[in-house]
Amino acid sequence: TQSTMIDPFGRTIDYLRVSVTDRCDFRCVYCMAEDMTFLPKRDLLSLEELDRLCTVFIEKGVRRLRLTGGEPLVRKNIMHLVRQISRHLKSGALDELTLTSNGSQLERFAGELADCGVKRINVSIDTLDPDKFHAITRWGRLEKVMRGIEAAEEAGLKIKLNTVALKGFNEDEIPDMLRWAHGRGMDMTVIETMPMGEIDADRTDQYLPLSLLRAQLERQFTLKDIPFKTGGPARYVEVAETGGKLGFITPMTHNFCESCNRVRITCTGMLYMCLGQDDSADLRAALRASEGNELLAEAINNAIARKPKGHDFVIDRRTSRPSVSRHMSVTGG
Ligand code: GTP
Ligand code: 5AD
Ligand code: SF4
Repeated sequence: TQSTMIDPFGRTIDYLRVSVTDRCDFRCVYCMAEDMTFLPKRDLLSLEELDRLCTVFIEKGVRRLRLTGGEPLVRKNIMHLVRQISRHLKSGALDELTLTSNGSQLERFAGELADCGVKRINVSIDTLDPDKFHAITRWGRLEKVMRGIEAAEEAGLKIKLNTVALKGFNEDEIPDMLRWAHGRGMDMTVIETMPMGEIDADRTDQYLPLSLLRAQLERQFTLKDIPFKTGGPARYVEVAETGGKLGFITPMTHNFCESCNRVRITCTGMLYMCLGQDDSADLRAALRASEGNELLAEAINNAIARKPKGHDFVIDRRTSRPSVSRHMSVTGG
């Protein structure tokens, strides 16, 4: 029997994002610093512990679950966890199991993911130019990601393209990326860069408010607001010329926190109630304290009762410090 989690602002929490590793085979310049220190492997929750955590969250009312990273598909034996969680899809306790991935390992895993009941995945690509792709990811290869996308298409996975809008880097390319994505039957979301963690660049130089991008796109495309929702923060338009959907994720210029439905756990079992706040609850301690799940359930209840109203991200040259000190790769967004 499933219960319901409701936070102090009346929001139902039915979406869990699970970061299965803080590691990634890329180093996107807005996401990580060049030399990142990753967690020692012994600090990670085991796949069995992650499964147990997910199961408790599902019993408490989670209906959608998204695996993130770092890059989720670089976690050793990740398909074991996917297969375990997929039993909740079969039982009807879970409506959706998805992933957010950089695509680099999809060639290998797309078929198995589809077999486990994954229907759609989000793949992050910020440029279609191989040299620029190499530069933004610091060492990624676009052709490998493209082969991953092809494999995902062949496996019947629906793909959404995630693109962080970066001033002076990809703003001029977004119309072409949109045509490319929609031409292949993929929806796309563009994302405002969020001030998380110290990076080597200045975020004020990178930040592009999506209202500007939208105005630019409207010179070439007819955008119609539509009520379409995936359960995420994106607000969607339909593009008349392509027939596809484009979502705008605008944490900086239009806050969507009032309809927030989610919490996230890290690969060490920290529960973050908000992407843009530092407060967290240590579920690993509760998980390891006893074999039963009572302590864990109680720790989750206490944490949900502290879920903040929203983030207070600011990008401002005068403060120039990130709003939260952890990098995006700790929680996978
Ligand atoms: P679907 O709508 O289910 O396809 O997924 P999504 O867009 O919620 O998830 P995805 O992992 O693709 O994330 C896209 C972007 O949205 C990332 O940059 C995330 O950091 C951002 N995002 C997701 N959830 C939140 C949130 O609660 N708050 C903020 N500020 N950003 C979020
Ligand atoms: N701001 C916005 N989006 C980010 N991502 C990574 N770091 C940031 C940031 N600082 C994006 C990735 C991926 C998703 C999980 O989050 O590009 O699409
Ligand atoms: Fe890796 Fe994603 Fe961060 Fe890029 S944005 S470094 S692909 S976790």
